[in-house]
Amino acid sequence: MLSQLGQVWVQMETSNRTASHALKTLKVAIDGPAGAGKSTVAQLAAKRLGYLYIDTGAMYRAATWLAVHRGIAITDGQAIADAASKANIRLEQGDESTSNRVKVFVDDQDITHGIRTNEISDLVSPVSSHSPLRKVMVAQQKELAKRGGVVLDGRDIGTVVMPDANLKIYLTASPEIRAKRRLKDLQALGESPVYEELLMSIADRDNRDSSRADSPLKQAEDAVVIITDNLTIDQVVDAIVKLCLAEAEEKR
Ligand code: CDP
Repeated sequence: MLSQLGQVWVQMETSNRTASHALKTLKVAIDGPAGAGKSTVAQLAAKRLGYLYIDTGAMYRAATWLAVHRGIAITDGQAIADAASKANIRLEQGDESTSNRVKVFVDDQDITHGIRTNEISDLVSPVSSHSPLRKVMVAQQKELAKRGGVVLDGRDIGTVVMPDANLKIYLTASPEIRAKRRLKDLQALGESPVYEELLMSIADRDNRDSSRADSPLKQAEDAVVIITDNLTIDQVVDAIVKLCLAEAEEKR
């Protein structure tokens, strides 16, 4: 009896270990339009799961910052791609003092706040439509994601960067709610944005991101859609973590 119990315990132990191994290596893709809350929930979900979080939007923002600060024309996709591949763009997990945002460095210069200004937000969409730059960024993102245990957020994660992701989420909300969230973010950075201008700039970015030729923003066929208008951040994070647990259970 005892040994039988022991055997059952051993079997359970083994199967839990297999489940937790599956859980450790999942690839989670979160896509969606500007201001849907992707970065916040992706970062929190990654923390809960012990995963690496990669903010791919921050990478495109860093490339845009490079173009602006090195005097490269926004229309010169090849020159921007060359500069981005030569520069050392580094992402570090944020802390309380940066409102939990990912810290971004270019060649050891801290550009965490510099990449979130209105100027960069308005230029990042045309910059990220250049195929040579996307090639450089996607190659780096694939490399970072290859071992699993990762959450990546962006526009083309489930369709291009990780078409093999175990879980694909498409996070969205109405343009008005997204503009209100962006307003709060920028006010927290000490800026004084105008709501109507933010609404227009978000709509403009959505249009550009969805209509570009290379890797447009679109929902992957196998994505789970989450509309966040009436959901708290915690509710969205809980939903994603539960989906991951279910996925790991199925995978083992
Ligand atoms: O945080 P927010 O929703 O404002 O956008 P972001 O994630 O910081 O991304 C900024 C911009 O980078 C997007 O509007 C896209 O133009 C571009 N982007 C992209 O093309 N592909 C990605 N995987 C991520 C971002």
